Amino acid sequence: MGDEVRVLAFAGSLRAGSYNRALLRAAQELTPEGMRIEIFDIGEVPLYNSDVEAAGDPPAVAAFKQAIAAADGLLIATPEYNHGVPGVMKNAIDWASRPPQGAPLGRKPVGIIGASPGQTGSARGQSQLRQAFEFTNSYCMPQPEILVFRAHEKFDADGNLTDAATREYLAGYLAALRDWISVFTSR
Ligand code: FNR
Repeated sequence: MGDEVRVLAFAGSLRAGSYNRALLRAAQELTPEGMRIEIFDIGEVPLYNSDVEAAGDPPAVAAFKQAIAAADGLLIATPEYNHGVPGVMKNAIDWASRPPQGAPLGRKPVGIIGASPGQTGSARGQSQLRQAFEFTNSYCMPQPEILVFRAHEKFDADGNLTDAATREYLAGYLAALRDWISVFTSR
C-alpha cells in the first residue's frame, strides 16, 4: 500500500523484558489502517563521540539515521530514569540530530509514549524528550499522551499488553499519530 504512513519506532530500554519495548509491540498489533510500524533496536548505537563521527558514522548509527530519514514519522517509547530520559535514548537522539543542517530528525513528526511501574508513567522522561526535540526542530504531537503507569499490572509475563483500557487508548493514540504525521506528508 504505497500511501501508508511509515512509522519508525524505537524504545529507550535495552532489556528483553522492557515494558517500553513491549508497548511498541502492542502498538504494532494495534496499528490502524493506513499506517505501518517498524521497530528499530538502538542497542548497537555506540556512545556519541564527535571524533568517531568525524571519521564517518559507525554502521549502526548510519542504519539508524537512514531508517529515520526513510520514515514519515517516529514513535518513541521512553522509560524515565531519575526523572529524566535514559542515557541510551538521549544518546541515540544526539547521533540522529547530526549534522545540524540536514539531520534526519529535522522536521520529522514524532509521537512520544512511555511506561513505568511507578505512578507517573514516565511523564518526566517524556517531557525531557520533548525539550530535546525543540532543538532538533522535530514536530512532537502535543496531544493525546500515553502515560502507562503501574505498567507491571498492564502487561503479562510474556510482555503482552493485557489491560483493555490501555489497549483501547493506545489504538486511539495511533490513529491520532497517523493523522498528525499526515499533516506533514502527502500521505
Ligand atoms: C528507574 N525507574 C524509574 N521509574 C520512574 O517512574 N521514575 C524514575 O525516575 C525512575 N528512575 C529509574 C532510574 C534507573 C537507573 C532505573 C534502572 C530505573 C524504574 C523504571 O521505570 C523501570 O525500571 C522501568 O521498567 C524501565 O523501563 P523498561 O526497561 O521496563 O522499558
